[in-house]
Amino acid sequence: MSRPAESDPPGEAKVARSSRATRVDGSAIDGAAIVATGLNKNFGDVEALSDVDLEVGTGTVLGLLGPNGAGKTTAVRVLATLLKPDSGSATVAGFDVLREGNALRENIGLAGQYAAVDENLTGAENLTMVGRLYGMNRAGARRRAAELLDRFDLSDAGDRAAKTYSGGMRRRLDLAAALVAKPPVIFLDEPTTGLDPRSRLALWETIEGLVSDGTTVLLTTQYLDEADRLADRIAVIDHGRVIADGTPDELKDRIGGERLEVTLADYGRAAEAASILSGLSEDEPVVEHDAVKLTVRERKGAIVEAVQMLSEADIGIDDLGLRRPSMDDVFLSLTGHAVEADEDDEAGPG
Ligand SMILES: Nc1ncnc2c1ncn2[C@@H]1O[C@H](COP(=O)(O)OP(=O)(O)OP(=O)(O)O)[C@@H](O)[C@H]1O
Ligand SMILES: [Mg+2]
Repeated sequence: MSRPAESDPPGEAKVARSSRATRVDGSAIDGAAIVATGLNKNFGDVEALSDVDLEVGTGTVLGLLGPNGAGKTTAVRVLATLLKPDSGSATVAGFDVLREGNALRENIGLAGQYAAVDENLTGAENLTMVGRLYGMNRAGARRRAAELLDRFDLSDAGDRAAKTYSGGMRRRLDLAAALVAKPPVIFLDEPTTGLDPRSRLALWETIEGLVSDGTTVLLTTQYLDEADRLADRIAVIDHGRVIADGTPDELKDRIGGERLEVTLADYGRAAEAASILSGLSEDEPVVEHDAVKLTVRERKGAIVEAVQMLSEADIGIDDLGLRRPSMDDVFLSLTGHAVEADEDDEAGPG
């Protein structure tokens, strides 16, 4: 896997960590909060994790970015001790995933891709139950539940069964449940998938709040903008392999600037158009069906220039626009192909 040669100044991460930067017993975490080395996990002939190395500095956020079936949930499950790797090793908060599972689990919170709330219990009951599982007394668990309901804007719904909650409320309750024991490390598996833009933004702000308290976060996502906003570093994963990692800026530099997409009136002239437009880009434009896509270094004037170049060659344009890089662009520039449908991955057992 690739790691940037020079080590990044840790100053990239927001500083001033405090309350959540220690283990639940108050001891300091020596070194990185999450370290994984050479993790492998196969399901039949599907390589869900292949030689995965990850490192997440204490108090920082790692975004694990990848398409469906990339291995994100598998990585989280291994690090949260829910699944044994076939080989490789990992520590979380300094505890070994294989040998120190109990201590490790006390120091992590996990908000899953599939929210793990009990539908028939109320929000308050769900959180109180989690507190009791962590060994709090009844009063303490209730107090903590009330605190979290308030913090997640669920106080009014606290006495309603979770099955009456909206998707966004359920996500918030699930995240609250992960925080009951004030763990220093939390895993968030696609925390905002399926949320509307407003709920998404609210959840981002909540996560930022946790991070400013010193919590270490490993967040999986399919959205580049989410990783960009929340993560200090991003690891891109595909077919179980980490294919790139770096800060969001390093990654964006590798992907390049904004994307210009031109849809042609006559797809027969796509190759010609690509060659004409290649002057606007440092990389070769890509032709997909009747569209030519390229990365422009200079946003300003790119559209006007493209229109002029093509009209001089008498090539008709159906549509044209500039947009920010998406995860597809990340994959295109890292692998030379777009995100694939993962049908063939899913052919394995299960
Ligand atoms: N229990 C299992 N049995 C068989 N195959 C599995 C199992 N769990 C995961 N896989 C396979 O391993 C691969 C990685 O799955 P994983 O759930 O980690 O992907 P993901 O990145 O979380 O995807 P998504 O974005 O869809 O949640 C997939 O091909 C999946 O089908
Ligand atoms: Mg998943």
